[in-house]
Amino acid sequence: MKALVLSGGKGTRLRPLTYTMAKQLVPVANQPILGYVMNHLKDAGIKETGVIVAPETQEEVREYLGNGEKWGLSLEYIVQEKPLGLAHAVKTAREFLADDDFVMYLGDNLLGSGIKDAVAKFDRKKTDCMIFLKEVSDPRAFGVAELDENGNIVRLVEKPKNPPSNLALVGVYIFSPAIHEAIDTIKPSWRGELEITDAIQALIDSGKNVTGEILDSWWLDTGKKDDFLAANTTVLDEYTVRRINGVVDEDSTIEGRVQVEKGARIINSTIRGPVVVGEGVVIENSFIGPFSSIGPGSKIKDSVIEHVVILDDATVEGIVRLEDSLVGRNASVTKSKRLRGALRLMIGDHSRVEI
Ligand code: TTP
Repeated sequence: MKALVLSGGKGTRLRPLTYTMAKQLVPVANQPILGYVMNHLKDAGIKETGVIVAPETQEEVREYLGNGEKWGLSLEYIVQEKPLGLAHAVKTAREFLADDDFVMYLGDNLLGSGIKDAVAKFDRKKTDCMIFLKEVSDPRAFGVAELDENGNIVRLVEKPKNPPSNLALVGVYIFSPAIHEAIDTIKPSWRGELEITDAIQALIDSGKNVTGEILDSWWLDTGKKDDFLAANTTVLDEYTVRRINGVVDEDSTIEGRVQVEKGARIINSTIRGPVVVGEGVVIENSFIGPFSSIGPGSKIKDSVIEHVVILDDATVEGIVRLEDSLVGRNASVTKSKRLRGALRLMIGDHSRVEI
């Protein structure tokens, strides 16, 4: 079994962050999403992994993943010149995939359960394609599966107006090499992409065996700001342990599951977990509420924040309450003593400010 990790694409829905970084490297609880994906591949015993990258962001993806040694994986990078669809990514990786079974894992998706059991099940069942489904409240934004009374997949529809079920397709798929022939039969969709759902539908139509597994655990797609904050909340809730490696002065209180990395300093502040505080962070005269991640090198002073993700080297100072927010690298949110109610902003393209 090989793996194909999709780390190309445009990431338009997570702008402005994705102007300067690959969507798959945006950190959830201070770890890039791709780090979780690699851990799941490792846990499933997979070694040979192809990584689809885009020309614009390939350098930083290569820098983070290296040769995969850190996860015991052997990585091969495959450049997809344009993001022409998930099935196009498989086509681009045709040579690497050869005639092996493979897991395709979208690099901006996370599964609470990992993929170890699913890979074992695929090997036992020997089907041509295994897809993963999750019940969602509004299926219209997803690829949706229609099942017969025996639970077999009969039809897949992309973003349906009238969904045939509430089972959305999750961003992990396991394929036999039969998928390549199916991809050769499909045409680009109205949005100009070779859709993997069309290729799977072609498999079904040609009588191949396609099975669906309904996930019990959480599934996170980190494509948009609110999804991203929700992903951060879930991951913090699941994985944070209490571990204080930084310095906490005697006027500060650390409550619950809080990770303070080395070189961080907490001065006259309260932190209520689950919270992760990266290396070298300084928190002074502040309250950090649950479900917040503070990236390495950031500085929080005279502020109250809760349910906020702050990336590396950012500054938040003099802010009475910051909630449900995402602050990018080197960004600063500060209060001016002189302006008295007026705002002074310098925000990038596609930024959003709610006052
Ligand atoms: P999407 O989130 O569907 O696409 P995108 O990254 O272009 O995002 P947006 O809609 O915000 O512009 O892609 C899912 C994953 O697959 C994501 O990690 C990017 C990757 N991908 C590729 O590697 N190649 C492709 O051709 C496409 C469409 C996506």
